[in-house]
Amino acid sequence: MSHVCPWWLGYFLINPFRRISQNPMKILGPFVAEGMTVLEPGPGMGFFTLDLARLVGPRGKVVTVDLQQRMLDGMKRRARKAGVADRIEARLVKNDGLGVEDLAGQVDFALAFAMVHELPDQRRFFAEVFQALKPGGKLLVAEPKGHVTTEAFAATLALAGAVGFRADSRPAIRASRTAVLVKA
Ligand SMILES: C[S@@+](CC[C@H](N)C(=O)[O-])C[C@H]1O[C@@H](n2cnc3c(N)ncnc32)[C@H](O)[C@@H]1O
Repeated sequence: MSHVCPWWLGYFLINPFRRISQNPMKILGPFVAEGMTVLEPGPGMGFFTLDLARLVGPRGKVVTVDLQQRMLDGMKRRARKAGVADRIEARLVKNDGLGVEDLAGQVDFALAFAMVHELPDQRRFFAEVFQALKPGGKLLVAEPKGHVTTEAFAATLALAGAVGFRADSRPAIRASRTAVLVKA
C-alpha cells in the first residue's frame, strides 16, 4: 500500500476550495446523463461521487470501488447527508483487481481521477474497465501533474490503447493530465 493515498488525505481531497479549480459538475456534466450506470474506481471520500449520483438521478447508479474502508465510509456518510446514498454502491477490494466482472457491458461512463498512478497493474485496470463498459462507453482519466510526468502519462495511455481503448479528447482540467478513452 506504499503508493496509495493515505485515508486521512481523503479529508483534504474533499475540501470545498477544490471545487474552484476542479468543479465536478463542469467536469462530469458533458459525460453523464440521467439513468446512466457509472463506475468510479478510487472514489476516495467522494469528491466526485456525490455529483455523479446527482447527475445519474434516481434511476441511475454509481458503483464505486476502493481499497480503503475509511475512504468508502467517508464517502457513504457524505452521500447520506446529501440524500443520494440510495444510488451509490460501495465495493471494498484488495489491491488485486476491481471486482467488477458482474458489470460486463453495463457501464456507460467510468471516472478514474487521481488514482491510476497508484495501481500496481495499470494494464489490468484498463482491461477490467474496458470489459465493464458498454460499446461506445467512455473512461475519463485524470492524473495529477505533480505526481505524473508527461512521459509516465503517455506510458499509461499506451497501456490503455493496448487493451483496445481509443483516445477521444483531452479535456482541460486544472493541475491534471487528462484523456477521454472510448471503447470503440
Ligand atoms: C488520490 S485518491 C483520489 C480520490 C478521488 N478520486 C479524488 O479525486 O478525490 C486515490 C484513491 O484511489 C484508491 N485506490 C488506490 N489504489 C486502488 C485500487 N487498486 N483499487 C481501488 N482503489 C484504489 C485510494 O484508496 C484512494 O481512495
